[in-house]
Amino acid sequence: MRTITTLSEFKQFRDSLSGTIGFVPTMGALHEGHLSLVNKSNHTCDYTIVSIFVNPTQFTQNEDLSTYPKPLEKDSTLLKAFKVDAIFLPTNEIMYPEGFSTFVNEEILSRELEGKSRPSFFKGVTTIVAKLFNIVNPTHTFFGEKDAQQLRVIQKMVSDLNSSIQIISCSTVREKSGLAMSSRNEYLSAESRQSAYIIYKGLKHGLSLLKNGERNPDVIREEITKIFQLEPLAKVDYISISDNISLEEINGEIAGDILISTAVYIDDIRLIDNITYSSD
Ligand code: PAF
Repeated sequence: MRTITTLSEFKQFRDSLSGTIGFVPTMGALHEGHLSLVNKSNHTCDYTIVSIFVNPTQFTQNEDLSTYPKPLEKDSTLLKAFKVDAIFLPTNEIMYPEGFSTFVNEEILSRELEGKSRPSFFKGVTTIVAKLFNIVNPTHTFFGEKDAQQLRVIQKMVSDLNSSIQIISCSTVREKSGLAMSSRNEYLSAESRQSAYIIYKGLKHGLSLLKNGERNPDVIREEITKIFQLEPLAKVDYISISDNISLEEINGEIAGDILISTAVYIDDIRLIDNITYSSD
């Protein structure tokens, strides 16, 4: 496995490859969710490249950029065991050199859901992902459904910018309790980790209401809120019932394919998760 930190070395490496190239962009602190993307890439493509870069432009000032976990050695060992061909590990100076002034901004889907609580988040994500796509030049890229809105925004960006990269979405990987795997789970204490199961429990309850014919989004939001209230450490940021394609919040009668998504603080750690309902 190559570990590459400069653009020139990466270009040399990339020029030496022919065949399909799978790319998994990450911010490190790898968990089973990331590894499932790597695994999928290994099975789909001739080569797998993983980037690790904690992207400053997707954090706001009061977020956790400075404390974001960076267990590089552990990540490297994991990726080696998964027979990844290369890790791309650029610095801030490489990705955002002095005078950097061009951003990629998706302007419809990005405004919904997470965009309401974190208005500049997706601009940072689309900018860094577009840059990484240009550098890595993959044929395929792998994103997790846990970050459902990120996945939709990247799909839209790729389509709007006429890119031919194939985006493969991969199911959310969960802990035994149902808690979705996330690098931010590392911040949870043993006690708060136990409480965090409530997020998936609430989402599953919403899904079961939909499956049983409930079509009033307010009722579903209220019922999920009641579940979250069972856990004193849980503080809801939002509970959304939205159209699974447009991500627009549903306020009238529910119809079509639905994304139930939420952001919940567990002991001040903000966690997101979602579940989908298909009307077929
Ligand atoms: O999902 C993430 O880890 C990040 O948002 C991504 C896609 C690597 C961009 O920094």
